[in-house]
Amino acid sequence: MVDFTAGPAPGGFFSPLRFEADVFDCEVEGQVPQDLNGAFYRVGGEWFYPPSYPDDIPLSTDGYISMFRINNGVVDFRGRWVKTPRFLNNLKARRQLYGKYRNPYTYDPSVQNLDKPYLGTVANTAPLAHNGKLFAMKEDAHPIEIDPMTLETIGAWDFDGQYTAQTFSAHPKIDPVSGDLVCYGYEATGLCTDDVWAYIFSADGQLKNEIRFKVPYVSAIHDIVITQEHIIFPVFGFVTGLDKLQTAELHWNWDPNMPTYYGIVSREGDGSDARWFRGPSSVVMHTINGRTEGSKVIIEVPSSDGNFFPFIPSVDGSPFNPVEARHFIRRLTFDLASSSETFTEEILDPTDIVDLAKVDHRYLTLPYQYVYSTMHDPDQPFDEERGGSGARAVNSFCRYDLGTGEWRKYFVGDTHNLQEVSFIPRNADAPEGDGYLIGTASNYAEMRTELLILDAQEMDELARVSLPFRMTPQVHGAWYDASELPMGDTGYPEYDVREQS
Ligand SMILES: [Fe+2]
Repeated sequence: MVDFTAGPAPGGFFSPLRFEADVFDCEVEGQVPQDLNGAFYRVGGEWFYPPSYPDDIPLSTDGYISMFRINNGVVDFRGRWVKTPRFLNNLKARRQLYGKYRNPYTYDPSVQNLDKPYLGTVANTAPLAHNGKLFAMKEDAHPIEIDPMTLETIGAWDFDGQYTAQTFSAHPKIDPVSGDLVCYGYEATGLCTDDVWAYIFSADGQLKNEIRFKVPYVSAIHDIVITQEHIIFPVFGFVTGLDKLQTAELHWNWDPNMPTYYGIVSREGDGSDARWFRGPSSVVMHTINGRTEGSKVIIEVPSSDGNFFPFIPSVDGSPFNPVEARHFIRRLTFDLASSSETFTEEILDPTDIVDLAKVDHRYLTLPYQYVYSTMHDPDQPFDEERGGSGARAVNSFCRYDLGTGEWRKYFVGDTHNLQEVSFIPRNADAPEGDGYLIGTASNYAEMRTELLILDAQEMDELARVSLPFRMTPQVHGAWYDASELPMGDTGYPEYDVREQS
C-alpha cells in the first residue's frame, strides 16, 4: 500500500503523479514556429514511493524525463521515469528501500553498498545531448543514457571506459568553438572525497584531456564556467563528512562561516596548475558565462549571499534567511598574474532573479550581450486564491542586456509559476538573441502544465501548449535540434485491429 500522508510530498500541484504519459498532438494556442524541429527535454523528479524519512528533501525524488517534440508546427508530449537501479529495486520491493538524500548509510541493508554510492542515484537534475546520445544526469553518478524518442532508459554511460571518476556533474559544458565537452565529477573517488576529476571529450566522444586536483574543502560543485583557456570551479558553504552521514544527516548542511573558493585550472593542463581564489560566504549553484582576457579570467554568475534552499539545514541552527537568498547577476574578475588570492566582485544590477540564468549557448566562452532568466516581477499582479505558489511566484521570463542594462520582461499571468527558460537560436547563422525562448509554466488555476514559446527579441508569446494534467516539476530543461539527436515522429504505432465484417 502506498501512503504519502507522512510527508514530505506536498499536496496540490506537486502531489505525486506516479504515471508515465504520452499526449499525441497537444492543444496549442497561437502558432508554433514552423522552423522549429527538435525537442525540449525536461528532467525533474517526484516520489514514486514515499521517502523512508519524512524530512527527506526534494533533491532525492525519482528522476523523470519528459519531452515536447516539436516539428511542422505541432507538438507531441512524452514522459517516462528514469529507470535507475534504485527505481527498479523499489518497484521490485513495492516500497522505498533508500534513505536520505545521498546518504547510503540510511539505505535498507538489501541495497546498501557503501563502496558504490552512485548506485543510489535518482538521475533527476538535467538533460544533455552529446555525440548523438541523450542523457539524464545527477551529480552523484554517471549520466544515464536515454533513448531520445521513446525516452526509455538505456543505462549508465562511461564514454566507453574513458570516464573513470565515480561522479559526473549535471552541468557539463559544450564549447561552441571546438564542440568539445568539458565535464567533471566531484567526490570523484568516493563518498565525501576531496578529489575533482575533469575530462575534455571531442564532439565524437574521444578523450582529449584529463585534469585532477583537490578542493580546499568538500562542497557541492554543482556547475562550472568554461572559457577558451580555463575552467572555473566554485566551492561554497555546503559541507559534508562521513561522520555526518553516519549519523543519518543529509549529504549537505549549510555553513555560513565557510569562505567561497574559486578554483581555476587550464583546460590543457593536468590540474597541477590549479589556482584558488577566496572570497566571502556565498552560494554559487549555477553560472552564466565567462572568458579569459590576457591574465584576467572574468565570469558572470547569478549568486546569492547565503543559502537559498530552505530545506538544507544550517550547521548552527540559524533560520533560513530570504534576504541572503536573493540572486543578483554578478561579475567576478580573477587576475592570474597576481599572487593574491582575492578577486573583485561587482553586482551588475540590483534586480533579484532566479538563479537559473541562461545565455545563447553559441556564445559560451565568448563576448556576449544577453542573459535570460526567470524572476518574480513585483510590479505584476498576483491571484491570492489561485496563485498556488505564494506571492513571490516566479511570474516572468526576462532578458538582461549586459551592454545597456536594459531589462525586457514577459509576464505569464497571475495564476502561474514559471520554470527555467532556455534560448533557441532561430537558425545556426542568426545573430545573438535572434530566436525563441522556451520553458514550462505551472497553471494553478487549471492545475495543468503549459509550454511557452516566445519571440526572444520582442519577448512576445507565440504559442502556449497545454497538457491536460499537471506535470512533474522540472529541475533543468534543454532544447536540442533534430540535427543533434536521432528524432522521428512520436506518432502512435500502427495497430492491427479486427474490423466488423
Ligand atoms: Fe542545476
